[in-house]
Amino acid sequence: MHEVNFRRYAIELQTGNMLIRIVFLLTLAACLPQAPAAAQEKQPGDDRQMAFFIDSLMSRMTLDEKIGQLNLLTSDMDVTGPSMRKNYAEDIRKGRVGAIFNAYTPEYVKQLQDMAVKQTRLHIPLLFGYDVIHGHKTIFPVPLGMAASWDTAAVEKAARIAAEEASADGINWVYSPMVDIARDPRWGRVMEGAGEDPRLGSLMARAYVKGYQGNDLSASHTVLACVKHFALYGAAEGGRDYNTVDMSRRRMFETYLPPYKAALDAGAGSVMTSFNEVNGIPATGNRWLLKDLLRRQWGFSGLVVTDYTAIPEMISHGVGRNTSEVGTQALQAGVDMDMQGEVYVTQLKSLLQEGKISRQDIDTAVRHVLEAKYRLGLFSDPYRYVHENPDKVIMSPDKLAFAREMARKSMVLLKNAGQLLPLKKSGSIALIGPLADDRRDLIGAWSAAGDWHRAVSLLSGVKAAVEGRAKVYYAKGANLVDDTALLRKLNAAGADITVDAKSPEQLIREAVATAERADVVVMALGESAAMTGEAASRSDIGLTPNQQELLSAVYATGKPVVLVLMNGRPLTLPWEDAHIPAILESWFGGTEAGAAIADVLFGAYNPSGKLTISFPVSVGQIPVYYSHKSTGRPADPGNKYTSKYLDIPNEPLYPFGYGLSYTHFSYGDIVLSTRKLRRGEILRMAVTVTNDGHYDGTETAQLYLRDRVASVTRPVKELKDYRQVFLKQGESKRLTFTLTPEDLKFYNRDMQWVTEPGDFEIFIGGNSRDLQRAAFTLTE
Ligand code: BGC
Repeated sequence: MHEVNFRRYAIELQTGNMLIRIVFLLTLAACLPQAPAAAQEKQPGDDRQMAFFIDSLMSRMTLDEKIGQLNLLTSDMDVTGPSMRKNYAEDIRKGRVGAIFNAYTPEYVKQLQDMAVKQTRLHIPLLFGYDVIHGHKTIFPVPLGMAASWDTAAVEKAARIAAEEASADGINWVYSPMVDIARDPRWGRVMEGAGEDPRLGSLMARAYVKGYQGNDLSASHTVLACVKHFALYGAAEGGRDYNTVDMSRRRMFETYLPPYKAALDAGAGSVMTSFNEVNGIPATGNRWLLKDLLRRQWGFSGLVVTDYTAIPEMISHGVGRNTSEVGTQALQAGVDMDMQGEVYVTQLKSLLQEGKISRQDIDTAVRHVLEAKYRLGLFSDPYRYVHENPDKVIMSPDKLAFAREMARKSMVLLKNAGQLLPLKKSGSIALIGPLADDRRDLIGAWSAAGDWHRAVSLLSGVKAAVEGRAKVYYAKGANLVDDTALLRKLNAAGADITVDAKSPEQLIREAVATAERADVVVMALGESAAMTGEAASRSDIGLTPNQQELLSAVYATGKPVVLVLMNGRPLTLPWEDAHIPAILESWFGGTEAGAAIADVLFGAYNPSGKLTISFPVSVGQIPVYYSHKSTGRPADPGNKYTSKYLDIPNEPLYPFGYGLSYTHFSYGDIVLSTRKLRRGEILRMAVTVTNDGHYDGTETAQLYLRDRVASVTRPVKELKDYRQVFLKQGESKRLTFTLTPEDLKFYNRDMQWVTEPGDFEIFIGGNSRDLQRAAFTLTE
């Protein structure tokens, strides 16, 4: 917990800075009454100190100044650097703004902070928010890719690096982690989260929060995390962004809510409301969600901010006629800060005068905003995040090296028939595809401050890796997208997809000729970054038709083909899986993507990633996820009247947890500590994993549980734990797991969190499909 830095102020007082003097006196005055309390225990003392400080400050704030604190505005950052709209400056100087987002660089932040601190009556500093989603300047793989590493320590480190860079650049509040469970890959924002599973999603949520906030939020290299989008945003009907969400309370609590809760348990200091409705009421005006659940049940005491213009959007949702009606709902539901809606700043005063809201409603919200500022240490040093020399921190060699490491860990080997991979650094390699020499897309969507010019393309990564020992040929082969209507939309959103001057036929001819000259072909295909992320839903999630055409033309040459995918969501790949011998999912791998992919292609790194979201056979299967229910008529090929499709299998093409290695791992039988477990006891189990292939490698052994009979239906399996183990060729290791009573609990008919005696199954293996099995009974 942060302490007001009197010493520093005392020193600066002597230097005679008038502004610092004023802030110091204000701070001192506020803190004096609690002097005896400071001698007591640290934690309560700190909280009391903060409460005294804020009480004192609030006692001096006018209503307008209070309302100003609840206003969050975006600034303008354009490609040539920041530009400030005139009215922002005016709003800040008049104390009508509590926080700014989309403003960074020390110079710009200082300029804005100066206005708040030097020119407003009470000198209250601003928060500076930003969408730092998978890195700030050093860009890591998209979060769905990072999750595929299953390596929470690595994800935490990536978040810590992001915090270091962002804070060096003036930012003190990041709009991350995005922890929305997503089971519909048509939704473009699946790339921003950790996938389909609540347990893994919770672990990832925690890792991000720890990485961003560290142990001391007031340190100048840590930032305030913002868990989003609360809640259920990932369950938009039909995968169409911003669409209606409707789900049972049971599914909410079992599947969708745990990652938000995990992020809060890890200490996340702020929460962003979602655009969607929850049980018929927009999240941003949903008192049950924000007060009953978030505040009362979960005990959250931090800051709640809306998503972008989510308050005025409640008019379109149809729950209010005007901004004053929806503003009332948002405030009373428990929303503290209004992002870009300018509803609070324009409406709250008159709403108070009309008696529609209370002073208490406003004060509570203001307190949450001020507390966030206090915890960040902004009252003792408003310039804490304005570093003098950010270039020393940003994109330093160690950070880039870690970005490469993170990208390698994230890749998932989907297929490797005949051990085509790894490739030899000899002979000739044809690198073909619209993403083979691309840099712009590699850093993916939501790489807000990332500079794609710094990204390493696959072509340059491969050339550097072969060190002249193999010939490398290149052909573009196809445009990323040919469909003119789609192109227009993507480019309007800034995708910058260029259409080659050569005709599609000519491009394919050149690609085929290039392939024919080479011993092996590496095809780089996938999506444009703009085809994923916000407002980027797709109804067809295969490769674009022109890329498919290119792939089949090159395949027809008979050359061995390695398909490297660059994309931000599961794709439907039935033809590719049936024909192409080797497929590597590299996601949008970030700044070092090209170098990292080359490491994997040539065996400098043995791939170890595992999917955290199922890849469907076709869009018709969606939603398809491993932890489905059995139903009363589980699929039985011999019986027509069972739950299945006539034309496709029920199972996805590549299931949750799936990912190959250049080596092979085999699993021994599961050994349980007992087959009769008494309630309250811990179950121990062990399994021996052997690397019986020809490379050293890392395996992720996954433990799933099934509750065979319960008072409510239970999934056919649920991930409970996993172990990552590095095994040398020929090496075996005995992995041990434990299941605690907590792991056996679920929500019963009355939504109580309980265990029930009965039969359980345990599964352990390298993915959610291919598993060893054991059983035990839980007795009273
Ligand atoms: C997105 C949020 C984001 C916010 C601010 C919204 O449109 O849904 O995830 O944090 O914009 O940029």
